[in-house]
Amino acid sequence: MKTYSIALIPGDGIGRDVTAAAWTVLETAAKHSDFILRGTEFPWSCRFFKETGRMMPENGIETLRGFDAILLGAVGWPAEVPDSVSLHGLLLPIRKAFVQYANIRPHRLLPGVRGPLRAESLDILCIRENTEGEYSGAGGRVHQGMLDEVAVETSIFTRAGVERILRFGFEQARARRGRLASVTKSNAQKYSMVFWDEITRKLAADYPDVAVTSYHVDALAARMIIEPQSLDVVVASNLFGDILTDIGAAIQGGLGYAASANINPDRSAPSMFEPVHGSAPDIAHLSVANPIAAIWSGAMMLDHLGEKDAAGRVMNAIEATTARGIGATAAKDSTDAVTAAVVAALN
Ligand code: IPM
Ligand code: MN
Repeated sequence: MKTYSIALIPGDGIGRDVTAAAWTVLETAAKHSDFILRGTEFPWSCRFFKETGRMMPENGIETLRGFDAILLGAVGWPAEVPDSVSLHGLLLPIRKAFVQYANIRPHRLLPGVRGPLRAESLDILCIRENTEGEYSGAGGRVHQGMLDEVAVETSIFTRAGVERILRFGFEQARARRGRLASVTKSNAQKYSMVFWDEITRKLAADYPDVAVTSYHVDALAARMIIEPQSLDVVVASNLFGDILTDIGAAIQGGLGYAASANINPDRSAPSMFEPVHGSAPDIAHLSVANPIAAIWSGAMMLDHLGEKDAAGRVMNAIEATTARGIGATAAKDSTDAVTAAVVAALN
């Protein structure tokens, strides 16, 4: 029987609850299929940092490299470790080291879930560049603490990086409703975003079946709220994609529904699956975190592993659950109740 080895990194706060929930559902799905999931848990987190001075061991990346996929909960406990330290010690290095350049974030209203908009249905797939751009990490501070202090943080856009993410977006659009929104800000950013637009136009020639439109990020933010039905696939740089996908989460009913997949399309290293939400310290001990985003991310993992049937069954079980009103209203049902309902639907 096919066996997949999965690295589980629950992380901090509600990341622990929702990872456990997703894993329970995934194991149930595997039980009804002809594959085995073998999970190995890593305690890498802010607590681990307090004990060891690192978010993950020095050989953390090499340890993860041998796995078929990574399932991550959430990272961050800002009361004890600054976010700039915890995220740069775990989540962000994994995305970069494993060239998970395509961050896929589906924004869709699940049955029974009411979003804040009048729109009764929406189905947007955001593709976020995940390894460079505004998150390149190039920069520094000089004259620290002095009146003439300077901070520089340079966005880096490479032709290879921009081409591969735009191509990925075109491919996704081709497989869906054939529309691609390429997110820019070339009216203000005259180097990087003009470059982005040029590459968008160049690639468009290879995809005559895709209707591509370039939108400035501010206008697209408004469009996601006013006319979300007009959008199919959205492709954006790292920071623009980060911001737009929180809007996407909001319009699909909240962060408790927003799933994501950090994909290495070449499969030269493992991909990582995680809900868009953070560790939510304020509700971390209440067992009320909605596990749907994490479970949906788990379904994306099965899909990536090639287990399309099982992935589809998990999605159906999620939809059957929310359609019954369970997990359909933020913070109403306990994490365990929602998980149990999804497991029951699968069985
Ligand atoms: C996300 C998160 C992260 C990001 C943070 C935690 C660094 O907001 O995955 O959207 O900005 O990428
Ligand atoms: Mn974000």
